[in-house]
Amino acid sequence: MFECLRLKDQSRGNMNLKGIKLTWLGHATFRIETPAGRTILVDPWVMGNPMCPEKEKDVKKVDVLLCTHGHFDHIGDAVEIAEKHNPVVVGIPELCGWLEKKGVKQTSMMNKGGTQAVGDIKVTMVHADHSCGIQDDDQIVYGGEACGYVIEFSNGVKIYHAGDTNVFGDMAIIRDLYGPEIAMLPIGDHFTMSPREAAYACSLLKPKTIIPMHFGTLPMLTGRPSDLQKLVSGVEVLEMKPGVTVS
Ligand code: NI
Ligand code: MN
Repeated sequence: MFECLRLKDQSRGNMNLKGIKLTWLGHATFRIETPAGRTILVDPWVMGNPMCPEKEKDVKKVDVLLCTHGHFDHIGDAVEIAEKHNPVVVGIPELCGWLEKKGVKQTSMMNKGGTQAVGDIKVTMVHADHSCGIQDDDQIVYGGEACGYVIEFSNGVKIYHAGDTNVFGDMAIIRDLYGPEIAMLPIGDHFTMSPREAAYACSLLKPKTIIPMHFGTLPMLTGRPSDLQKLVSGVEVLEMKPGVTVS
């Protein structure tokens, strides 16, 4: 059991989004609507994503695409969505360069440690411990490095999307510098953290709420939110249902 409480008297289950709307589209893909009504899509993989509900596969509106790394299950629909909606596409330079070659017009590249304002949010690119080759026809192209993001909203809420990663000690730095109260963490195992690693990550990050992701999509992604729940205390494990909006 990993103790995740920041303060002993902090109550659990009190995620307060203050006007933000969160929708999980399955795997690592989230739609986030800001209080001002702008739409962010993190890791755009919808059309080929077996967990994405049919009604969500036709993306209606996107202002910002945040891409954690170049694996197909994270950027699989980035080019098509960007062509249709012309959002600002945020990613590491090598990935943005590849996306530009494929026809993406508005990129806003950045690198780890940096923060930039994109419309009404502030985005900080943080470390992730993972690989980042881009499958480009029959070749694998260098895609820079995998990353995570801390998104700060105008209402003060901070959400950490870890991307694909194992647990790493510098998650403590993410807590100290940014203090995100909500952490979207991969728990599926095999390609990312397992529930046990995610529980340890929780002890470093000390969020109020964990939103598990990157599980169940493929048979080998065996970790489940209930497994994580058994390993942590004092933190809300929010199991979202694909296509169901939480606000
Ligand atoms: Ni990956
Ligand atoms: Mn992945």
